[in-house]
Amino acid sequence: MDLFENMQPNKLEIIKDAYLLKSYALTNEKALLSDLEQAVSQAPLRHMMTKMGFAMSAAMTNCGVLGWVSDHQGYRYDMKDPATNKPWPVMPASFQQLATLAAAEAGFNDFQPDACLINQYQVGASMGLHQDKNELDFNQPIVSVSLGIPAVFQFGGLNRMDKTHKIPLMHGDIVVWGGQSRIHFHGIAPLKMNTHPILGAYRYNLTFRKAG
Ligand code: SIN
Ligand code: FE2
Repeated sequence: MDLFENMQPNKLEIIKDAYLLKSYALTNEKALLSDLEQAVSQAPLRHMMTKMGFAMSAAMTNCGVLGWVSDHQGYRYDMKDPATNKPWPVMPASFQQLATLAAAEAGFNDFQPDACLINQYQVGASMGLHQDKNELDFNQPIVSVSLGIPAVFQFGGLNRMDKTHKIPLMHGDIVVWGGQSRIHFHGIAPLKMNTHPILGAYRYNLTFRKAG
């Protein structure tokens, strides 16, 4: 018997190279939430348009050197916020440190994100199954932090039609994926009505990536 088998009940393997770290973001919750508030006050959340002319369901903004943007030209990373033509807010130290620690916890050492996409979901909002493929180096993992009301994360395979794992994500949970699961399809099911004592009827997601 492996005595240490259940020593880390807060670290759950979803599939190979994909982990759920339960409540991992709560250790520095206060700093995280105030830094989030400051970032969205500098670069306001907005519903970006897809290439096809549809507004995205989640409102988005970014911090870090590179920001993920979508418009009539498609998806890309940009050093400037197209709404203001100014650089994105600096990535707060609390964000950077959390992302690096969470990645290491999942076995990805020395993760230094240069992009943090901030998604804000209201009740009913969702994100369709997609792959994260706009980054240059797929050896770098993705660190995805959930805050606010719960959501169900769908984590699939390399093909859109593959069966998905359905993972409930609560305030403070982090999903890290990379390696063999780096470009797996994933998405967020429509959010159910709920309220969070601090963040109200919203879910925020911080997606950290090394984009450039
Ligand atoms: C995404 O995949 O871009 C967002 C996932 C999430 O909101 O948890
Ligand atoms: Fe994604």
